Amino acid sequence: MARLSQEKINEIRQSVDIVDVIGEYLSLQKKGRNYVALCPFHDDKNPSMSISPDKQIFMCFVCGTGGNVFTFLQKYLKISYIEAVKKVAEMGHIDLSDYHLDVETRPISKENATLYQMHEEAQKIYSYYLNTKLGLEAKTYLMKRHFSDELIKEFQIGYAPLQSTLYQAFEKLGFQEIDMVKSGLIVESYQHFDRFQDRIMFPLYNQQGQVVGFSGRIYKPTQTESKYMNSPESDIFIKGQVLYHYHQCKEAVKEAGFIYLLEGFMDVIAMYKAGIENTVAIMGTALTKGHIQALRRLTHHVRLCLDGDQAGQAAMGKAARELEEAGFQVSIVVLPDGHDPDEIYEEHGQEGLHEALKKILKPIEFLMDFEYQKIDSQNYDDRKNYLEKMCYEIAKIHDPIDQDYYIHVLSKQSGFSVDLIHQQINGLQPQFHHEVNVPKKKVVHLKDKYQQAEHDLLFYMLNHKSVALKYEAKAGFMYNDRYRIIASYIIDYYRHHNQLEIADFINSIQKEELIQTVIEISQSPLPAKYEEQAIDDYIQMIEQNAKRMKKEQLLEQFRYILDPQQKAQILNEIVKLGGH
Ligand code: UTP
Ligand code: MN
Repeated sequence: MARLSQEKINEIRQSVDIVDVIGEYLSLQKKGRNYVALCPFHDDKNPSMSISPDKQIFMCFVCGTGGNVFTFLQKYLKISYIEAVKKVAEMGHIDLSDYHLDVETRPISKENATLYQMHEEAQKIYSYYLNTKLGLEAKTYLMKRHFSDELIKEFQIGYAPLQSTLYQAFEKLGFQEIDMVKSGLIVESYQHFDRFQDRIMFPLYNQQGQVVGFSGRIYKPTQTESKYMNSPESDIFIKGQVLYHYHQCKEAVKEAGFIYLLEGFMDVIAMYKAGIENTVAIMGTALTKGHIQALRRLTHHVRLCLDGDQAGQAAMGKAARELEEAGFQVSIVVLPDGHDPDEIYEEHGQEGLHEALKKILKPIEFLMDFEYQKIDSQNYDDRKNYLEKMCYEIAKIHDPIDQDYYIHVLSKQSGFSVDLIHQQINGLQPQFHHEVNVPKKKVVHLKDKYQQAEHDLLFYMLNHKSVALKYEAKAGFMYNDRYRIIASYIIDYYRHHNQLEIADFINSIQKEELIQTVIEISQSPLPAKYEEQAIDDYIQMIEQNAKRMKKEQLLEQFRYILDPQQKAQILNEIVKLGGH
């Protein structure tokens, strides 16, 4: 079988558009000729990753990560180079069956493969039992809650009977007991038994759509245990990463331009019944960094709709703040009477739910309402407390018009004057300036003039074969190790090509640090056209530097060598190098 040639790899790369590929994972905004996105490789607050459709490369101006479509997938999906190439080939419909590809399998994923397999089997078994006599009562419960067969299929809902069905099946399938316990589906006590028994089973999926756990609901009035029982965390089930419906909502989110963040999976399903699919649920837990990262890959616009009870409302305020701090645009839906979307749907139907979802608040409006209804407006201390709390929130608003508006609202509500509120806020503001999160810039080492010359010469070498040839003939050396290696790659590349495409060129490099440097150089704000004189100047400066370095080395030797004859020889060489 043939090995993948550089040409084939280039063909694979050219079979897709980097904008489409990155767009599958990140939310992109068009900006001039390029696209920008929040960079997933550092804690990005403002879109600092730029994707160039012309050059087919991406680069983050803050953390410096950059490369072509392969680099992106490698880094983003944490896969090997060859896996990334295979993935792109699939996307571009390029057949690689005639090629020999060594894909290293990671031992970790192999071990997890068993856990995934068990969950897949479990899901099938539970689904089967829902349609048997044993599952009849559970099915009836679901029907009462308006779960159609289509819905049951879509969400792969099942039933765990009141016996160790799964354990027996797993034994027959040859799974090891140690793995069964590790999966969390089987519990070990004096013997092994199924964790979930006599419950309606909702599979929980990871971000790629694999089943990694379950939530089981009771369904009979006689059942007194907790309403939902969830799988314990395992190597594949990481609660802080799981957003229910994540892998199924992407298209709908793209279309709607925002996502609803809901409390439980029943709410996701209720929304689905009403034809709304741009939803995910955090399933009764707090919002984590992992959730936020995952959301960021879909959109920058989140509409929060958590439960209407006190706890839910407080969680909503907190989640809103965290999302805003992470750079999201947040709005809040408060459903009437503390209901959840499922209850609204049951009581008022599809229309009713759509109507209720229209009442959208800005986080500040929500907070003001939420805090205000907690106080006794007749009580001076209550009002004063409320004022202080809200001044703190209003001080964070950037838009002066918005800020002014809410100052007036606050004044009316609290009974304190607008002037006083202004004073309060002005007193707070300097503090916020310190709080503003300035992204940590990559440590930029100032380049000396010699390194700058090497850097800029590389830019022109990347763009013009003639410059590369001139460098090779006249200088052939760069002092900076990284630049020197890149220069030799460029020269090598031009041996077989007349033009250099950055996105192809970096395939021949492979080393991540070098790729990033190449991308960075290629994005230099230098005029694309060059003048021969400028190139000669660069080369001269590089030569000068080489001589200077050589001279320093010789002087060093001169100091340490004792043999007079050798000393004379070194001195001679130093003189020949001339004075610089
Ligand atoms: P809710 O109590 O709001 O449930 O819990 P729900 O979504 O309205 O469900 P129904 O309509 O009563 O059937 C919200 C989420 O909190 C978690 C679950 O993930 C649920 O989706 N939860 C709740 C538990 O993990 N355990 C519980 O006992 C209750
Ligand atoms: Mn409910």
